[in-house]
Amino acid sequence: MESRQVFPVPQAFGSRAHITAERYEALYRESVQDPEGFWSRQAKELLSWKEPWSKVLTWDFKGPTIRWFEGGKINVSENCLDRHLEHRGSKPAIIWEGNEPGETRTVSYRELHEQVCATAALLRSLGVRKGDRVAIYLPMIPEAAVAMLACARIGAIHTVVFAGFSAEALRDRINDCGCAVLFTANEGLRGPKAIPLKETADEALAECPSIRHVLVVRRTAATVAMTPGRDLWYDEALAALGGAGDSRPESVDAEDPLFILYTSGSTGKPKGVLHTTGGYLLQVTMTHRYVFDLREEDVYCCAADVGWVTGHSYVVYGPLSNGATTVMFESVPTYPDAGRYWEMVERHRISIFYTAPTAIRALAKEGDEFVTRHDRSSLRLLGTVGEPINPDAWLWYHHVVGEARCPIVDTWWQTETGGVLISPLPGATPTKPGSATKPLFGVQPVLVDDEGREISGNGVRGRLCIKFPWPGMMRTVYGDHERFRQTYFSMYPGLYFTGDGCRRDEDGYYWITGRVDDVLNVAGHRLGTAELESAIVRSGLVAEAAVVGIPHEIKGQGIGAFCVLRGDVAADASTTKGIVQAVREVISPIAAPDSIWFVSGLPKTRSGKVMRRILRKVGEGEYDSVGDVTTLADPSVVSEIIQAVRASRA
Ligand code: WT7
Repeated sequence: MESRQVFPVPQAFGSRAHITAERYEALYRESVQDPEGFWSRQAKELLSWKEPWSKVLTWDFKGPTIRWFEGGKINVSENCLDRHLEHRGSKPAIIWEGNEPGETRTVSYRELHEQVCATAALLRSLGVRKGDRVAIYLPMIPEAAVAMLACARIGAIHTVVFAGFSAEALRDRINDCGCAVLFTANEGLRGPKAIPLKETADEALAECPSIRHVLVVRRTAATVAMTPGRDLWYDEALAALGGAGDSRPESVDAEDPLFILYTSGSTGKPKGVLHTTGGYLLQVTMTHRYVFDLREEDVYCCAADVGWVTGHSYVVYGPLSNGATTVMFESVPTYPDAGRYWEMVERHRISIFYTAPTAIRALAKEGDEFVTRHDRSSLRLLGTVGEPINPDAWLWYHHVVGEARCPIVDTWWQTETGGVLISPLPGATPTKPGSATKPLFGVQPVLVDDEGREISGNGVRGRLCIKFPWPGMMRTVYGDHERFRQTYFSMYPGLYFTGDGCRRDEDGYYWITGRVDDVLNVAGHRLGTAELESAIVRSGLVAEAAVVGIPHEIKGQGIGAFCVLRGDVAADASTTKGIVQAVREVISPIAAPDSIWFVSGLPKTRSGKVMRRILRKVGEGEYDSVGDVTTLADPSVVSEIIQAVRASRA
């Protein structure tokens, strides 16, 4: 499926860009030869510090220990707000596009600063202190960014939970890190649907002893139950404080935590990825500026939700730290129709637009007319993130959306990496559809074979690892440092293992081929097979389940579940429904299986290990190449499995 086309750097970018090809080469070389020198200079240039650091970097990938800018004092909210007030006070910080087309709100840097200060004082008045955890379960409204920045201002650690997650998922996250306060809204709106956020939160909070207060943002006119003493309307609580209270920015150590964000792995429950302050802010500030070749007059829009890391780094922290105008989008790309993004581009004169391959594929399917009927002359750069982008989708994005004018930055990174690590720089890197191209400054990728030996040279493939720390990398799994070590550093000693497979072509370009572990990427959402299987079993209908990724035209990967039913359960449509319902309730509607197959047994080795390789092949429709089945305890299950999948697709 390789596209051999190469797209040169457009003239308009080459000359004006922050980073040209020559500059990229020189800076990259420096960043690898003298990482401490490179990063200290960036840290001084791009951020404002309250006190300088005493040591740039301490690291070992065995422990593992990673510390950047130790001893340095910095406040993220000051960097995102206060330092812009003098020159950018009236510049729009956030342009909010609500669920209904044309429902917009513009918040200037001055206004955002005021709201964050008021909210910081409110949190302090509720007893929240530096290091305390605060959960945020909000729709895509400016208050979500305000809540995050208010936490940052007082040194509290936020954990944003995507508003599409279930009560159980919310409960588990709150309990894992012991949050003291929860931000939510009475209701959320997503396309034609109203989401009962407060009701779901109440269900979760029945089992969250650490929560002392709930701040409820009034997003709609919906009335909701309020628990006296615990729940406060956010607007009323702010009014009651009347601008009083302590909103001074806390002096935060570079290595103090900024946030925890839960993400799925190949085993167990989602883990709390912990990011710290100085290094993270530097990573997102620098990458946002260079990858998007940011200019003062840009109107930048990342269509991601703040419930994911993309929303943290590239809706809120990166853009605001750079003093940019960031567009926050509450709705979905197909509401009220497939032209919504481009209508929004036209309305706000968006110049940089960043979204996910799954959205691009879904929109491309609806036809060009939804795009072309809107004026996109303001666009100058397009970005994509979340999963490998197939060349067809890339070319459609480039030609139809970008009128062949706009370069595309295909940005590879992860929740764990904090910011983009591999991506073109629009003024420096010729692009190839489907390739994330080259490492950014300070990033030292290596490919390894199954035994962990480094594969050198070009025209090779292997597993993607990184051999040197970068400032924005996660520091630990909250409350479980051993899991951090185990997950990322034990597979290939001395290296950070990404979980991705990757090819490096003849030109040294990186092509991410997808996860090589038991993690699925469904419409850009990361889901672990273990967590899906346990949700399926929780339905009470299934004795044992095995989940694999299956090809899906729009989502990239869909979810296929092989289920062994419990003795008395009928293999019928109502059972299928029950299983889907259970997954929606335990995790989220985004985790609902696309295909469920009833089988009498799973292909297991004699030691009882499920051979997913076989299930994956069958799920992909490769019935004749399932490989060696002789090591199975009962090879006959394979033909039954093939039969079940075939029949469902006939
Ligand atoms: C996984 C990380 C990074 C924010 C959104 C996802 C896949 C991400 C790309 C890309 C190919 C990509 C990888 C990675 N991925 N971006 N440009 N090309 N694959 O964050 O949920 O932590 O998922 O997403 O497989 O490991 P995440």
